[in-house]
Amino acid sequence: MILTEIFKKALDGGYAIGQFNVSNLEQIRAICEVAKALQSPLILGTSEGERKFIGLKQITAIAKVWQEETGLPIIVNADHSRSFETAKTAYDAGYTGIHFDGSEFPYEENLKITKRVVEYVKSKNPDVIVEGELGRVRGSSEVHNEAIVLRESDFTDPDLAMQFIKESGVDSLAISYGNIHGVFGVSHSPRVTLGELHGEEVPKDGPWKTEKLDIERLKDIREKAGAFLVLHGGSGISAIDVKESIKNGIVKVNINTELRVAYVNTLREFLNKSEETTPYKIWPAVIEAVKKVVEEKMRLFGSINKI
Ligand code: 13P
Repeated sequence: MILTEIFKKALDGGYAIGQFNVSNLEQIRAICEVAKALQSPLILGTSEGERKFIGLKQITAIAKVWQEETGLPIIVNADHSRSFETAKTAYDAGYTGIHFDGSEFPYEENLKITKRVVEYVKSKNPDVIVEGELGRVRGSSEVHNEAIVLRESDFTDPDLAMQFIKESGVDSLAISYGNIHGVFGVSHSPRVTLGELHGEEVPKDGPWKTEKLDIERLKDIREKAGAFLVLHGGSGISAIDVKESIKNGIVKVNINTELRVAYVNTLREFLNKSEETTPYKIWPAVIEAVKKVVEEKMRLFGSINKI
């Protein structure tokens, strides 16, 4: 099944598909095993750094093997490709979803490169989905120890989104409406200040406000934009906001940091307590921890038993 059909089904059914970011075999195993057990559609994502590490051809081949073994459609998405060249290289290596992120370019430049990516991909295979990005999603997939200040200009403008989708021809659009990449603090509880957006002073040392999404803006974008909408920075967003977002048209939620935190914390704890030297005896605990996060997210997104 191709991704547009998967998204259409999700939109009609009021649920969303998780994109889980990976860079190694253990993470892929954890995600695919949970998806199989819960019969959930899934998308594996790799940023430019993640795919450089695991290998572009390697991950598309590995995903194919898991697809055969689980019987699930497994999309591999080239998350946050920052140039036409990296998007093209991913497509050429067999990626079945291409995300071009031109959000740091001025609007016209973003539009121009996005259009070029769409034209290239669609001329080769119209079934491969292209995701664009408009508005700035701040932060990166890590644990932040300082507040991130969101500015009005970071947020996706609904009218501009409508124009961008029409002119670029993207299938889906990543939008900014209060979401950031990463989580806050050691306990990875979500803390972010919306600062200027709500006309508030940014407290220097906290306490910071809980990350809060601007659902009204999402509704406005949804009404105007004729494309599937994507929520980046899914880690650390409250379950209520995620559910409200899905109710209002989000069909894909990207998760990375919470998987990384579960992976690294479990590995650190295991190695601190054990003298084990056999790799395959170390990884099961780590895989279990990642699986717990994936299961929690798939249940939250409502994507289980949707194959
Ligand atoms: P998080 O790291 O906040 O989960 O965001 C991941 C993401 O959006 C990848 O594109």
